Amino acid sequence: MLGDRAMFLQNAWYVWGWGHEIATGGPPVGRVVVGHPIVIWRSDAGVIHAAEDRCPHRHAALSKGRVDGDRLVCMYHGMAFGGDGRCMGMPLVEKTPDVRLRTYPVVESDDWVWIWPGDPAKADPMLIPKAFGIRNPDRPMRSNSIEYNANYRLLHDNLCDLSHVDYVHETTLRQASGAYWAQSKPRVTSQPRAIRFERWFEQADMPGAPGQKVDSWIAYDFHVPGIFILHGARFPLGTAARCNYGPPPADIEPLVQNIEQQAVTPVSSNRTAYHYATGLIGDSPEMTLKLAQRMDVVMAAFEEDREMIEAQQAIHDLTDPAVPMFFVPQDQGPFLMRKLMNRLIREERNQADSLAAC
Ligand code: FES
Ligand SMILES: [Fe+2]
Repeated sequence: MLGDRAMFLQNAWYVWGWGHEIATGGPPVGRVVVGHPIVIWRSDAGVIHAAEDRCPHRHAALSKGRVDGDRLVCMYHGMAFGGDGRCMGMPLVEKTPDVRLRTYPVVESDDWVWIWPGDPAKADPMLIPKAFGIRNPDRPMRSNSIEYNANYRLLHDNLCDLSHVDYVHETTLRQASGAYWAQSKPRVTSQPRAIRFERWFEQADMPGAPGQKVDSWIAYDFHVPGIFILHGARFPLGTAARCNYGPPPADIEPLVQNIEQQAVTPVSSNRTAYHYATGLIGDSPEMTLKLAQRMDVVMAAFEEDREMIEAQQAIHDLTDPAVPMFFVPQDQGPFLMRKLMNRLIREERNQADSLAAC
């Protein structure tokens, strides 16, 4: 497991989970992020903390512990820790032990809890991609988390090539989106720490309005280390051509919009967490009902992805890495994302090697 860590980018903000999963003064929660066992808790004052999920005494999981005021108490033999990781006492031990937990930079942003497993000195919150958040009444969202028995790169590939929607999600997302995804290529561009995908679907079906045709604009960024932020908008026919097939200007009001925020967080080399939310812009009771229906479709679709990706992982496990894959134009997005991640991981390793050599 420890060896796993080297395969991941360490200096990046990973989504640990949702802020509402950690109650003030409530039970701490333990999760593994890129090979690091991490416990998160909120003190009674509501301050969020992240530390290694390993008591220095007998290496018990601190996530089995309890929050007591501003301290996290190990419920094996009672050693207590402050939010800075410093030991604050142990029963029967007169002098407070001079031990300290490793703590991790932790930030809450857009209702996600973000963890930086790498060098804390490099943890710049400005590197956190902007998402939507799930508590804005003007754009209500429904959220969920699942896990895949697969390497995170297979999830990256999946999200960077949505032509699979027509096949894997034939009766779910394909129909709900009103578009045929495998029939046209998106415009794919590299950003400093993301890959951007933009496309128009002309003459798409208007979701929920049989017979009505619209032009549909879909744009998303897939950020390092696996953050998917999508905005979709439907417009009257002819809008795509009027926009010269570029992004619609802000002064053209869409008929309906959807938003998605999703995060791929590796647990280990063969297990990956996926935290996602889907939303519609608007706050009428009708939209709330539609959102509930949309969430059902999205949850069903991600089970379809899981089935396909876990089966793909099982085949990969039985395949000699020397057996080549056959590349097609749809692979441009996955290829660029892998290239970006590989470069960042390589740079991080080179830096660590040169520091070790000093
Ligand atoms: S293992 Fe935590 S106090 Fe003993
Ligand atoms: Fe999918």
